[in-house]
Amino acid sequence: MRTVYPFNADWLYVADHVDLTAPDDLFEKITLPHTNRLFTHRNVDNLDYQFISTYRKHFDWTPDPSQPQLFLDFDGVMLAATVYLNGVLLVEHLGGFAPFSVDLTPALAAGPNTLTVVVDSRERPDVPPFGHRVDYLTFGGIYRDVYLRAVPACHIDNVFVRPQEVLSQPRLEVAVRLSQPAPELTLRASLIDPAGAVIATTETPAPQPDALLRFDHLPPVALWTLDQPALYTVEVTLLAAGQPTDAVSSRFGFRTAEFRPDDGFYLNGQRLKLFGLNRHQIYPYIGVAAPARLQRQDAEILKFELGCNIVRTSHYPQSPHFLNRCDEIGLLVFEEFAGWQHIGDAAWQQVALAELRAMIERDRNHPCIILWGVRINESADDDAFYSRTNALAHALDDTRPTGGVRDFLSSSLLEDVYTFNDFSNSVAEPTRQPHLITEFAGHMYPTKSWDGEERMVDHALLHAHVHDRQMGNRRVAGAIGWAAFDYNTHIEFGSGDRICHHGVMDIFRLPKWAAYFYESQQSPARRVVLRLAAHWALGDSAGGAADSMLVFSNCDEVEATVGEQVVGRFQPNRADYPSLPHPPITIRGLNTALAHNQYKLGDLRLVGYLDGQPAARLEFPADRLPRRLLLTADADTLAADGADMTRLVIQLVDQLGNPAPFAIKIVTLEVEGEAELIGENPFPVVASNGALYLKARHQPGLVRVTAKTDGLPAATATVELLAL
Ligand code: GAL
Repeated sequence: MRTVYPFNADWLYVADHVDLTAPDDLFEKITLPHTNRLFTHRNVDNLDYQFISTYRKHFDWTPDPSQPQLFLDFDGVMLAATVYLNGVLLVEHLGGFAPFSVDLTPALAAGPNTLTVVVDSRERPDVPPFGHRVDYLTFGGIYRDVYLRAVPACHIDNVFVRPQEVLSQPRLEVAVRLSQPAPELTLRASLIDPAGAVIATTETPAPQPDALLRFDHLPPVALWTLDQPALYTVEVTLLAAGQPTDAVSSRFGFRTAEFRPDDGFYLNGQRLKLFGLNRHQIYPYIGVAAPARLQRQDAEILKFELGCNIVRTSHYPQSPHFLNRCDEIGLLVFEEFAGWQHIGDAAWQQVALAELRAMIERDRNHPCIILWGVRINESADDDAFYSRTNALAHALDDTRPTGGVRDFLSSSLLEDVYTFNDFSNSVAEPTRQPHLITEFAGHMYPTKSWDGEERMVDHALLHAHVHDRQMGNRRVAGAIGWAAFDYNTHIEFGSGDRICHHGVMDIFRLPKWAAYFYESQQSPARRVVLRLAAHWALGDSAGGAADSMLVFSNCDEVEATVGEQVVGRFQPNRADYPSLPHPPITIRGLNTALAHNQYKLGDLRLVGYLDGQPAARLEFPADRLPRRLLLTADADTLAADGADMTRLVIQLVDQLGNPAPFAIKIVTLEVEGEAELIGENPFPVVASNGALYLKARHQPGLVRVTAKTDGLPAATATVELLAL
């Protein structure tokens, strides 16, 4: 049988290209995932990660004749990696986004071994996405997980689970590829239900090395849906004379996903308007080296905070942890291969095709993935290249359609779905079918959390407007806005601070008002939402007064009161947003209410009503000064593995706990216990909030973080580090 060893711990690292014989004391000890350096959260210069670094790891190996072959599996190294074992060059891998494996066997020694990975994080024009300008930073390092995998000579290489006729007479086909033909062996597949019970098994003799296992008669199965994403497992076992010699498990789901011409998207035979955002894998301070917890949290934010039903992994394959969480919570994914506007020469295209293959072979069992992106985002037509990408995707996966993102209408359509970046600030009438909007907003309206009220509101309303138009057009399958989160970028883009402030959340994943719009579109049965998209600081408005204020809510109506004066009850604006499930609500007549009060600013109260009953409340005091400092750790516990991290959110709030608009303060943090702060300390809080990360060291125990700022009581957060 195989053994898979987690291989993230006890690496040595030096931010330089050193000789294979360089002494260990040149290196520092690190744990993966790792960024080749840490950054501030803005003003990141891409030159700062563009260098060659060296990773080294010593390990002992005791040969086991039943597992003669040893692989090193990388989930992702940015941007190119040269791997040596005991001084022997094994592989030079190009491409930072897809996984790759290195066979260590030819250079493996019994006893001590030394592994060296030379990582080239320069923006090499021979590797996608580079060769021209690119609107995002790639960062550097061995930034995802690494595993060691010991296997028998004849082992399972890949398993592709294909549910068939899901809605009528469910069947299952399991395509298995072995490392070599095995005429004397048998393959068995077991189907395991979400509760862990084996509900069916099937066998086939003599894999050649490809084999197809079939489950033709299945007991009733639960569908993978957005609300109840039932996950099944297929376990494939290789048997010699009835004894298992290797086994691989793969999670999957029973679901259908279909784009229909002129009729949008159907999940399990039911029409579903796609409503989502694009995600870059970029985080503050740590570049792209986010551990599993943060990857999973991004999926949760998209689904539960923002109420999205789809995310696009712009513009490359993303972390397995992110995709696993999308499977578990029911969030659809459009996954695309790496590139941005530019198509390189034949060798460059070969790297792109290899990454496309690796992406599909890794990810084709994820029920969350409904579409493969097989064009370089926003590139020109190139029928020769895109015939190859489409053919490859279809050959590797006959169950999913392809898309290819372009930013112009009427290009040559070699894909199954016309995926289009629509920057018309509305919705262009589709020219091809099926049609999915894969970007809008973005650079058309960059918005910072500390921008003035008008800009924050217009940003939110641009997202509301486009979604209203797409929802009203049956020929549009859905729209995926640009973008979920702000991200670091190159000099040609962004706001001079090398950040594209295009997110509906900032780079810390803290909401702007556009996030409130997304949040408010979910059903109140899931969560009642009532958000004020205004500062309740009337002097910040032109003329020193605002007569109206915007509310995002899924309530039927909202009552507003200022002091003791009822302003009125207000309903969703269906006239301007006829197709949104929950149009924005405008509160009007504030000036009249204030006049009644002799212009004395009172507290603002909002009550949201559902079916005539109060369902949500908000209260904003007239005094909007910061009165409290809050510190919140997203996680209560972390694994004491040297890599696990949680976000620490710092907030300056008014006396009732609302963000204090434009509060600017320096906050200093102190840590007691075996954890490290990742971020700027002291931290400059702007526009009421910001965040750092707390990273576990290796000892279990309690960690206490204290935040202090002038004039306000200190705040603390406690996190427990758990033994592995
Ligand atoms: C698009 C591009 C994205 C991003 C966006 C900004 O053209 O595909 O990567 O740059 O613009 O709005």
